[in-house]
Amino acid sequence: MSEIILAIESSCDETACSIIKDGKEICSNVVSSQINVHKKYGGVVPEVASRIHVENISVVIDEALKTAGITMNDVDAIAFTQGPGLIGSLHVGVQAAKTLAWAFNKPLVPLHHIIGHIYANGFVDELVFPLLALVVSGGHTELVYMKDEWSFDILGTTQDDAIGEAYDKVARVLGLPYPGGPAIDKLAKEGKAHYILPTPKTEKELDFSFSGLKSAVLQLIQREEKKGETIVPADLAYCFQETALDTLVNKTEKAVHEFKPKQVVLAGGVAANSRLREKMTETIGAIEGVHLTIPPLWCCTDNAAMMGAAGSVAYRHKLFGALDCSANPCKEI
Ligand code: KG4
Ligand code: ZN
Repeated sequence: MSEIILAIESSCDETACSIIKDGKEICSNVVSSQINVHKKYGGVVPEVASRIHVENISVVIDEALKTAGITMNDVDAIAFTQGPGLIGSLHVGVQAAKTLAWAFNKPLVPLHHIIGHIYANGFVDELVFPLLALVVSGGHTELVYMKDEWSFDILGTTQDDAIGEAYDKVARVLGLPYPGGPAIDKLAKEGKAHYILPTPKTEKELDFSFSGLKSAVLQLIQREEKKGETIVPADLAYCFQETALDTLVNKTEKAVHEFKPKQVVLAGGVAANSRLREKMTETIGAIEGVHLTIPPLWCCTDNAAMMGAAGSVAYRHKLFGALDCSANPCKEI
């Protein structure tokens, strides 16, 4: 079976459209980022994000088709992020997808955003099942077990903040710009193990928790200030990052030993973190019988190519949506 998917992603602050052939070949991948606008506010402002999506959505779709050198007649299906994400942002992509589906009589393929992040790994490696995905983004921290290509079991999830959210919040108290993840990643390279932060604890072994760690960083800054001392931001960034990432990697290692996947993949915006990539390679990459895949930097943060890759698989499984489907900000995997 051969198919051309037009994929749309607008769940947060990237307006994106991509044309994907047979699930693997990227004919175009257009991403219009709003980061420079939201930077001024220190984080994504949902209302502003929706308005910019409205301005850009038709432009990125047009550019994706032109770059791929095709027209809507060549497209077999329209895949789109149905959720989770910011409701106003999602609505723009969903409505654009439905309009195209209606106007050109094409099937709609509604998708979960995280499944897109997982399938981004398919651009660099064959996906082999059973597979374990460590999903780390601004909204998610999950260990997802896939016994085959369209089954998703959540083995563990965060009890409070997502890892990317913790990075962004800690960056803010350290006076770093939005998005905080890349800023901490860079600053931590100059830091050393100068502070002691608590290792996050959870009731269930494979769950995560980051709000305690985030509060500990804040309390440490306040304590030092009271004493008239100033903290060393690079050292605190280093200590926060080491503690947070060790939790991710240790729990992934436990899940590998318990569930014995053939492949482990890293997924989501935080997968771009250089230290996480190192730690995963050192620990998970060293486990015999497990193949580790780390997505290239270009497809870690939000884009529509990943949604197209997932969309192809969903299309082959005939997982179509109806014209009255809507955005679902709390969509479950
Ligand atoms: O997947 P993504 O683009 O959007 C969501 O689906 O949430 O992930 C965005 C998150 C942000 O929290 C950002 O700070 C984080 O990914 N991030 C990083 C890095 N690059 C992006 N976190 C740590 N280190 C990085 N290098
Ligand atoms: Zn994402």
